[in-house]
Amino acid sequence: MKDAILRYDGREYALPVVEGSEGERAVDIANLRNDSGLITLDVGYQNTGSCKSAITFIDGDRGILRYRGYPIEELAELSTFPETAFLLIYGHLPSREERAVFSQRLTENSMIHEEMLRFFDGFPLTAHPMAILSTMVNALAVYYPRYFTDDWEVATFDLMAARLISKIRTIAAYSYKHSIGEPVVYPRHDLNYCANFLYMMFNSPVKPYDMDEDIVKALNALLILHADHEQNCSTSTVRLVGSSMVNLYSSICAGICALWGPLHGGANQQVIDMLEGIRDQGLTVRKCIEQAKDKNSRFRLFGFGHRVYKNYDPRARILKDKLDLLVRKFNVKEPLVDIALELEQAALTDDYFIERKLYPNVDFYSGILYRIMGIPSDMYTVLFAIGRLPGWIAQWKEMHDTLPFRIGRPRQVYTGETLRSYVPIDAR
Ligand code: SDX
Repeated sequence: MKDAILRYDGREYALPVVEGSEGERAVDIANLRNDSGLITLDVGYQNTGSCKSAITFIDGDRGILRYRGYPIEELAELSTFPETAFLLIYGHLPSREERAVFSQRLTENSMIHEEMLRFFDGFPLTAHPMAILSTMVNALAVYYPRYFTDDWEVATFDLMAARLISKIRTIAAYSYKHSIGEPVVYPRHDLNYCANFLYMMFNSPVKPYDMDEDIVKALNALLILHADHEQNCSTSTVRLVGSSMVNLYSSICAGICALWGPLHGGANQQVIDMLEGIRDQGLTVRKCIEQAKDKNSRFRLFGFGHRVYKNYDPRARILKDKLDLLVRKFNVKEPLVDIALELEQAALTDDYFIERKLYPNVDFYSGILYRIMGIPSDMYTVLFAIGRLPGWIAQWKEMHDTLPFRIGRPRQVYTGETLRSYVPIDAR
């Protein structure tokens, strides 16, 4: 591969060009500062690669998303969330034996330490479940202190990964029960991952939960669709925090906090708030579109736009189909569905959105699906975190398995005051 040549201040610098397995190319600037004294500046990392990765491939122009080479459309239809989690973390679809071992490990680790239940008594009923989730996940490092050590032990990693994937679901369901004043429902050993979550969320001693297979399948697809998305904000956070050699639980806690932001995973809750605003405040779809285009307004069309996808987010397309299925099966009369469809059509035919290639993203329809499942809107981003967890774990593991292992430490361009002397208070 031919080098890239940088001409600066009368000299030429040859910069190696690397090419990925899908033909993506990058200029390797690892020695740029040593050779030329220059660094690069790319606010928001719009054009900067932080790593090489073999986990997820996205082609934003063609709306392609693959996990370890498998198209998301096939995995969402044919796989299970635990199987996809195994694929992302270990790099291959599990054999029957591997799948049975992984499934058993998830079952054995589905309870949280009984003492952790006391944490919930300290949270007010109105505590946001994302704040509870990040707290409880970090607390796993207290109750399961045998975590990352210098001598990388595969068995330790496998156990930490299973604990997180299984317990995050339990913590989420317990936070919901706490918020409605009901006793927690313990996980069962005879239910699959998604059915167990719904059971812990909605079963009650006085009203058994009526499990519906299509709801379970829709949740399975939702979690698979959220499972990884290369170097997005929260995943980059997990990598950067993990590069300090802190344990996996604390690295994941940082990812949960990053995901909570309304520009990232918090958008799914914002979408429902936006749709309810149109329904309840007499906002029209047209007014909503105009507000989103108004530079003086901080309002954005949540669930629209994406840093990488400049085409329809393939996940949104699948979720829209899942939504149609549930609406037809349950004969759902949900005004928000009609408003969302009208809003999408208005945006897709508006020059502002067309010129900026703003299409529905994964968050646009996910909230309405969760709503049909009976999940409260403040838990939508928690569901996003449950789905994204295997991707965060896979990316953390890939970083630790890649040598030389280095702590992440970006540079900056200083624009502050130049040298000046201290001035005593009486002279200021
Ligand atoms: C996720 O990175 C990932 O992979 C994330 C994710 C994942 O799986 O991890 O896919 C999950 O976070 C999806 C995105 C969820 N967020 C939202 O739906 C919030 C609304 N979207 C926007 O805030 C925005 O589109 C972002 C944050 C998603 C992307 O922001 P960028 O890439 O920094 O784009 P930008 O802000 O530079 O926008 C470019 C232009 C600007 O207009 P101009 O200055 O060129 O005139 O498009 C406009 C923006 O104002 N714009 C929008 C808009 N999104 C971009 N205008 C109105 N509504 C929007 N939603």
